[in-house]
Amino acid sequence: MCGIVAYYGPDEAYDFLIKGLQRLEYRGYDSAGIALLNGDLRVYKNKGKVAELEATAKGKNLSGNRGIGHTRWATHGEPNTVNAHPHLSQSGDIALIHNGIIENYATLKKVLIERGHEFKSDTDTEVLTHLIEEIKDKENVDLLEAVRLALNEVVGAYAIVILSKNDPNTLIAARKGSPLVVGISEQAGEFFLASDATPIVEYTKTVTYINDNEIVAIQDGEMTVKTIDNEAISPFIQELKISLDALEKGGYEHFMLKEIFEQPKSIYDSMRGRFDPQNLNFAMQSLTEYASKIKNLDRIIIVACGTSWHAGLVGEYLIEEFGRIPVEVEYASEFRYRNPIITEDDLVIAISQSGETADTLAALEMAKEKGATIYGICNVVGSSIPRMTHAGAYTHAGPEIGVASTKAFTAQVSVLTLLALGIADIRGKIARERLREVFAELDTIPQKVEELLQSCNEKCKEIAAAYVDAPNCLYLGRGYNFPVALEGALKLKEISYIHAEGYPAAEMKHGPIALIDENMPVVVIATKRNYYEKVLSNIQEVKARKGKIIAVVTEGDEKVSEIADHYIEIPDTEDCLTPLLATIPLQLLSYYIAVMRGCNVDQPRNLAKSVTVE
Ligand code: G6P
Repeated sequence: MCGIVAYYGPDEAYDFLIKGLQRLEYRGYDSAGIALLNGDLRVYKNKGKVAELEATAKGKNLSGNRGIGHTRWATHGEPNTVNAHPHLSQSGDIALIHNGIIENYATLKKVLIERGHEFKSDTDTEVLTHLIEEIKDKENVDLLEAVRLALNEVVGAYAIVILSKNDPNTLIAARKGSPLVVGISEQAGEFFLASDATPIVEYTKTVTYINDNEIVAIQDGEMTVKTIDNEAISPFIQELKISLDALEKGGYEHFMLKEIFEQPKSIYDSMRGRFDPQNLNFAMQSLTEYASKIKNLDRIIIVACGTSWHAGLVGEYLIEEFGRIPVEVEYASEFRYRNPIITEDDLVIAISQSGETADTLAALEMAKEKGATIYGICNVVGSSIPRMTHAGAYTHAGPEIGVASTKAFTAQVSVLTLLALGIADIRGKIARERLREVFAELDTIPQKVEELLQSCNEKCKEIAAAYVDAPNCLYLGRGYNFPVALEGALKLKEISYIHAEGYPAAEMKHGPIALIDENMPVVVIATKRNYYEKVLSNIQEVKARKGKIIAVVTEGDEKVSEIADHYIEIPDTEDCLTPLLATIPLQLLSYYIAVMRGCNVDQPRNLAKSVTVE
């Protein structure tokens, strides 16, 4: 994680750096820092957020048309000011920012200490600044070559940017495993670098995404790219599609609330042009291209982390129901370390909002090496996963800034629904009439989400007020609603710090029931078409033990709403599409509880949106 930005050009760097860091703060907010070069090299940094950095920098010399900035999610070393980036070399002449982990830093550090280097911080990053400087001096090479040679000694993941007081017309950056994009201005000799395109879009839409093992050098206003093995590269220049408006709060108090309310559009966008409910056609290129592979598939493995893993579980139910292929859903971090059996007949689907999650990326790399066809369902266009997969589908949900994922989840589920139906169609496992029914219903989902948001918002706020001090909360669901329960619980714990657990409703009696008393709120998704009577029995079991029931029910429900302490109605839909609706009130409930508890919902403690470390 961590966010990095850099500026090289004719103008002052400071404003771009601060604004850029604010846009990247979702990647980490333990500390922030900048370095500015204008004859002298000045570093300002502190523990805490970018706003605190601005306060630190106020009144200081902020001149410099070269600059680098960093917002940190701590991996090595406590999140304090000393460990904040940028880090300086032994002489103080080289400043460096880093996103990633240098795995062999302890060995390198030991050797450097033996040679007389003194370190100020506990970070892995500082080692790199010392190493680069030592190579530069000893080998008598220029900064670019020193960086290249140093990176050949490094094991780990990084996106780095380097400034040197002695090379005022040079800025060097490199990438391996952590994202890095360069914006190329219309103004000659002006470049913007960042972990993702969000800080850049305001200034230019022309960008190039740096690949693993590549080094970018901006020297005397010209950019060149080479590999760490010293081979020249012609960078692939492309136009950004995101708009500035999509990155602003648009009148909402928090990005999370804005993103929850964007779901009618994001779900629509995720499906737009991909299916034709009248003629029962698919326009998903990835399906057409891989039709013969899909026909002969033995198995599908879905790998993901966090909320994306929950979408994967919904995907399992969908693909098994419609496509009739066995599906395994794996936590990417577990999958890659247990020597899984993967064959050339497998399809491995990675689901990731950011497209950068280190564990998911590594799991995919392993599956690719073993010959599987790999497929990505990602939101961030141009990110690492889509660039390494054989095929895939973007979710087109637009930028998601709130750390807790909301619209990305429902967009992932929409794409998985289309994928499951597409697979079923290719394999001849779904009757045209059934396809017509599901398509017709899917087509109504954006409108139903819109109505639901209007009808349940106030109700969610009221219920939230009643449970703002709850220490624990249980979420129950069956079938398609089980992953929804998991996701509901994750949302609550992420942003409100209330301990919450999601369980299959029937599994409650094998353990969690012991927790139930008059202080335990239990959120139950009890919709009409999803094992309604069985879930009703589970609710009775909770009520018998004085637990408090918050039920999500289908419009017009009579039985559950009668016995629940609170209920929220959602529109009726196919059981396979229920997650797209039932998730919405759970997002709002968590949101309002967190706001009422005074939590920072967009940037919950200890979390980061893009987890680029293992
Ligand atoms: C982090 C985020 C979660 C997200 C998970 C996976 O933990 O805080 O919201 O679900 O990473 O991220 P991805 O970008 O791969 O979907």
